[in-house]
Amino acid sequence: METLLYEVDDAGIALITVNRPDKLNALNATVIDELEAAFRQARADGEVKGVVLTGAGEKSFVAGADISQFPDLTALDGHRFALRGQAAFNRIEEMAKPVVAAINGYAFGGGCELALACHLRVASENAIFGQPEVNLGILPGYGGTQRLPRLVGRGLATEIILTGDRISAQRAYEIGLVNRVVPQAELIETAEGFVRTISAKAPLAVSMALEALRASDQPLREGLRFEAALFGQACATEDAKEGARAFLERRKADFKGQ
Ligand code: COA
Repeated sequence: METLLYEVDDAGIALITVNRPDKLNALNATVIDELEAAFRQARADGEVKGVVLTGAGEKSFVAGADISQFPDLTALDGHRFALRGQAAFNRIEEMAKPVVAAINGYAFGGGCELALACHLRVASENAIFGQPEVNLGILPGYGGTQRLPRLVGRGLATEIILTGDRISAQRAYEIGLVNRVVPQAELIETAEGFVRTISAKAPLAVSMALEALRASDQPLREGLRFEAALFGQACATEDAKEGARAFLERRKADFKGQ
């Protein structure tokens, strides 16, 4: 791939790196296409247990959508541009395996939105977040107005999106925008640790839990109905029998993903 690095280690963790360091890993159409392809590959590969997504270099995760694309966009182009990025990010959010963003610097605009589409977020101490689109005469278009309020609440999301202010890693942690803040040298290891921890659990239960969590933006009664249906499906898996048996026999469960 032209703009991404894709490697899978022995533990089955796919490390996907947005690799345009000279442009602080800004997202152009090629990056969006390649992200979709890389996540498709990770989804299809039975050896891959989960994904860590990061940016090349020590300065930037992703400094936003590539602004050089913007000056000539018509209304129709802009609409298509937003739908295209949203579709690619939806595929990330819909992964049945854990996806952890390792945010190693600037996460502005589309970079912040890309991190929001991941299931978990680990930030290095130098990470800086922001939705600065209003400074450019636009608004977030890759999901920021929808995922940010769901994560941090509408009041804080409104402040972040309307002011375009920068948010430090520590502040991001305090408001629940990231799950951990660690020194940069420990970033990838911490993100991979999440994938390792989760991949030791029953894989079908993990994927159903991710699906149920996605339904938490539906009305409560509908979400609860969906949760109960998934709970029923989970009970019928071999792994659920094995999990209960292992607990009762005081041994470690041997999950097969069946
Ligand atoms: N789109 C396109 N190019 C970008 C970019 C973006 N979002 N962010 C950075 N770049 C490019 C710069 O144009 C520059 O390219 P050049 O060397 O060919 O001129 C290169 O990346 C380095 O950026 P630079 O601005 O020189 O680095 P800096 O350390 O001084 O500042 C930022 C870093 C992130 C503060 C600054 O680049 C910035 O504000 N970027 C835009 C952030 C943004 O508004 N994102 C939301 C877009 S919707």
